[in-house]
Amino acid sequence: MAESLNILVICGSLRKGSYNAALARALPELAPPGVTFTTAPAYETMPLYNEDLQNASGFPPAAEAFAAAIRGADGVIIVSPEYNWTIPGALKNALDWVSRMKDQPFVNKPVAIQSCSQGPMGGSRMQYHLRQSLVYLKAFTFGVPEVIVSVAQNKFDKDMKLTDETTRKFVQQQLEGFAKFIARVRD
Ligand code: FNR
Repeated sequence: MAESLNILVICGSLRKGSYNAALARALPELAPPGVTFTTAPAYETMPLYNEDLQNASGFPPAAEAFAAAIRGADGVIIVSPEYNWTIPGALKNALDWVSRMKDQPFVNKPVAIQSCSQGPMGGSRMQYHLRQSLVYLKAFTFGVPEVIVSVAQNKFDKDMKLTDETTRKFVQQQLEGFAKFIARVRD
């Protein structure tokens, strides 16, 4: 692509040995030319959302920084595990905080979703729930190809490098499609 695009990557797992974080780290080598990636600011320091807290002291600095990073990006990729068939609580909490902002950062924002799971469903149920939240947030959510990495422990090597060729192709195809999608939907 001639145009350069900066994509913000939000990882839904907080643990060091995360497969989802490893997938996020693989994105630059699988992206078309001109696409660069920035890691989202930490969101796990945000307190649990409570409207009383918002009314008393406004938005926490971590929520402001998270929202500013989303606003400043050409697109967002959320790479997340599935917890109990849905969106991990810490990630959902971050979405809940920014959703209450006047300048809500996801409005008209192109967003793609990826997930890794150690189970056979690959985090797909989380993806469908996240899509629903993104509809309410007025994001433009990318459709297909989906990146759903099932049995992730067989797709990465011991150094957490994504080695599964089929998965690498899906990621490449999604990133190519997402770059075109961003160009198409932005003002
Ligand atoms: C899981 N896991 C899981 N897997 C899945 O396919 N469906 C699920 O609903 C859940 N639920 C779930 C809840 C909680 C609290 C944990 C900690 C784990 C397993 C999950 O796929 C596995 O731990 C992944 O490795 C998590 O992703 P990261 O941290 O490796 O990126």
